[in-house]
Amino acid sequence: MSWMKASFALMISLTLGLTGCGQQSEQASIQGAATGSTYQLMTEYLEPAADKIWSSAGAIITIEGEQDLQPTTDEGWAAVVHAASVVAEGGNLLMLRGYAADQGDWVEYAQGMTRAALKARQAAIDQDAEALFNAGGEIYNVCRACHNKYIVEAGEI
Ligand code: HEC
Repeated sequence: MSWMKASFALMISLTLGLTGCGQQSEQASIQGAATGSTYQLMTEYLEPAADKIWSSAGAIITIEGEQDLQPTTDEGWAAVVHAASVVAEGGNLLMLRGYAADQGDWVEYAQGMTRAALKARQAAIDQDAEALFNAGGEIYNVCRACHNKYIVEAGEI
């Protein structure tokens, strides 16, 4: 996999070299840049979508007894598909200039989050509550792992 990425990057830089464009600015426009702080991306983009996934899987105990959280309508499942797409693309966004803390572990966590979210998306498409629950757990573990490494004051999330 990584050799493919390496040769792809090489192809891009060769192409840019051939067309004689300023490599720096071309790459910047290909990569895009963060629209806000990492904190904003987390709290305004990632967390609401992840919450939607987590609150749509498993069960809670209420006064009336155990209540399944899984959606009961096609629209309900479609909303989870949407949320999972947001989280999946979020892994790519985390690699943008302005968000990416480094090109090593950060990228691994970001890609791991995308992989887990794609599982959640497939589970929601299949309306498979158990698979969604498992994928939700995987997403949670990646969030935690990245926070443990990159947030000095590791909070509860
Ligand atoms: C690639 C690393 C990485 C991944 C993956 C990641 N985060 Fe974060 N997250 C951070 C960093 C770094 C911060 C601290 C940002 C800041 O305050 O500047 C943060 C902060 C947050 C905050 C604010 C915490 C606070 O104390 O207020 C929330 C909420 C959050 N992340 C949610 C999530 C959720 C939900 C996921 C998974 C779906 C996730 N994050 C995945 C790196 C990551």
